[in-house]
Amino acid sequence: MSTHAEISKWTLPQLALAKRDGRKLVMLTAYDYSFARVVDDNGVDLVLIGDSLGMVVQGRDSTLPVTIEHIAYHTTAVARGLSRAMLIADLPFQSDATPERALQASIVLLQAGAEMVKLEGAGHKLEVIRFLAERDIPVCAHLGLTPQSVLKFGGYKVQGRDEAAAARLRAEAQAVADAGASMLVLECVPSSLAAAITAAIAIPTIGIGAGPDCDGQVLVLHDFLGIDTGHRKPKFVKDFLADGGSIAGAISAYAAAVRDGSFPDAEHSY
Ligand code: KIV
Repeated sequence: MSTHAEISKWTLPQLALAKRDGRKLVMLTAYDYSFARVVDDNGVDLVLIGDSLGMVVQGRDSTLPVTIEHIAYHTTAVARGLSRAMLIADLPFQSDATPERALQASIVLLQAGAEMVKLEGAGHKLEVIRFLAERDIPVCAHLGLTPQSVLKFGGYKVQGRDEAAAARLRAEAQAVADAGASMLVLECVPSSLAAAITAAIAIPTIGIGAGPDCDGQVLVLHDFLGIDTGHRKPKFVKDFLADGGSIAGAISAYAAAVRDGSFPDAEHSY
């Protein structure tokens, strides 16, 4: 069993071993070269170029205006700053509407330096996940509060609260794993539901507002540094810079807290 410190480069097989061995995965978003370097140097295993960049970098109200060109631009910059962490890039709004579109978008992102693509939802996206996975493109699924569905949800709300919605999410989680996803982000779901999904499926789960029992955690860089982006701060956000003293210290403190299970606590979970 390799420890975190012994892994010189995160790969897909390493992710599967981490799940098997019960080692927590530390993930953070980054959008540029300099932050990628400091994140990579301070214990983060997985770096996400999230379409959250629309809200925290571009100042948009949602992630919907983000394009594949935007994600590719930031992916190229972040890739130059990483040597150890795995780089995951978001497929932005409707770039994954069909398997063919998703394949073309994924090629752009992998050629920009991504090692996995992330897409939101299940339903017709199961066919997309299968199509990409069969073509050796690693896929991270994303369920629960999927920000690209904000118009359907009518806002950014906790998902899976009642039994019917929880059962639907459990079935979707199994379905994305069966379709070939290598990892699953669970956003804004009750801790008990995320724990049940994590125990049931064979791929690692990464929580954001999903309680302490996921296989790993992710936060948006700006939230985690306590930067006021003008958007409402969700309950699960913790300002690690306040205690960490420096950006490097905040990242190390976050990585340690995820690994020892002290983040997220009840105050930062649903
Ligand atoms: O876009 C993003 O940053 C994300 C994370 C919140 C998981 O999808």
